[in-house]
Amino acid sequence: MDNGQIKPMQVGVVGLGLMGSSIVVSLLASGYPVTALAPIPGEKEKAAMHIADLLRHADSAGVLPRGIPTCIDALRLVEDFEQLADCRIVLECVVEDQEIKSKVYQQITASVDEDAIIASNTSAIPISELQRLVPRPERFLGIHWAEPAYMTRFLEVTCGTDTDLSVAEYVVSLGFTWGKEPTLLKKDIRGFITNRLMYAVYREALSLVEAGHTTLTDADKVFRYDAGAWITLMGIFRRMDFMGLEDSLNTLRQLFGQLDNREDVPAVMQQLVTSGAKGIHNRSGLYAYTEAHAKKWETAFSRFNRDIYELASRYNERNLFPTREEHIL
Ligand SMILES: NC(=O)c1ccc[n+]([C@@H]2O[C@H](COP(=O)([O-])OP(=O)(O)OC[C@H]3O[C@@H](n4cnc5c(N)ncnc54)[C@H](O)[C@@H]3O)[C@@H](O)[C@H]2O)c1
Repeated sequence: MDNGQIKPMQVGVVGLGLMGSSIVVSLLASGYPVTALAPIPGEKEKAAMHIADLLRHADSAGVLPRGIPTCIDALRLVEDFEQLADCRIVLECVVEDQEIKSKVYQQITASVDEDAIIASNTSAIPISELQRLVPRPERFLGIHWAEPAYMTRFLEVTCGTDTDLSVAEYVVSLGFTWGKEPTLLKKDIRGFITNRLMYAVYREALSLVEAGHTTLTDADKVFRYDAGAWITLMGIFRRMDFMGLEDSLNTLRQLFGQLDNREDVPAVMQQLVTSGAKGIHNRSGLYAYTEAHAKKWETAFSRFNRDIYELASRYNERNLFPTREEHIL
């Protein structure tokens, strides 16, 4: 489908926590009218302030071409599911709890047209399980965003067993109009693509640290200064082309058998979580934070998000190489 043919239609976002609010801002930034639904009592007011903050942040970062007032005009902040009636697509962003999601789907499907598309932002619940909870499973799929949604290009579209592929392909086209670089996973694989790649790295890194072969800081440093130097431009497979395939093949042969293949989770993770550590959010994680130190990290991350978004736009693949490239595998 030619993305130019898609006219922005009303989109519903249900659940206005960390991700839901950020997704609302991303959709508004790309010119879509949004019905943002706060499903729990008292959340609407909090969400209004949070979304206003995010809009200001997006504006200061230069990713709000239409300006704040136009975005606010296009936003309907509601608590009543009936207000979703004119939404052609509804994005569910409530807590990662299947029972709660199930109740939310009942309320969504009671309000929207039967051919509306319903999507979940779940990180870990299989789409094939969630789609059993709606009357039209073929029009249900996963749309997995990254945080902050209005400053990241990532969008992973995932089919469940019963998803109609043409619906998923349509959502990929929509994703381009939301300013994303969408990917399509035709089979509902646990962890989707992104978590499978990242957690393979976590398994290896945690094992190296647990065995005392390196430190957490050095594992982080290696990742930052090696992968970090090229990954936003080329991804992992094009990187192999740059390194030379013969060298890559030799390294694959030598290293695959050496890599960690464990199924248990390193004890240090369990100990940290049991001790109440939540990460930077409560200033207690794999690293120790003072309040000032944590704030500096949060500010740096926010600035970095803006810079990397801008850098990735400058090196956008479709602008640099407008003709479609062939790949061998
Ligand atoms: N945080 C991330 O970076 C991230 C990334 C990708 C996907 N996700 C997924 O997005 C979804 C939302 O995650 P989040 O980080 O925004 O969570 P969050 O805790 O910030 O927000 C969850 C929202 O769920 C809703 N909610 C809570 N209890 C409810 C109830 N009993 N009934 C109805 N609604 C209720 C509320 O609107 C609440 O704000 C999850 O499925 C999560 O796996 C999160």
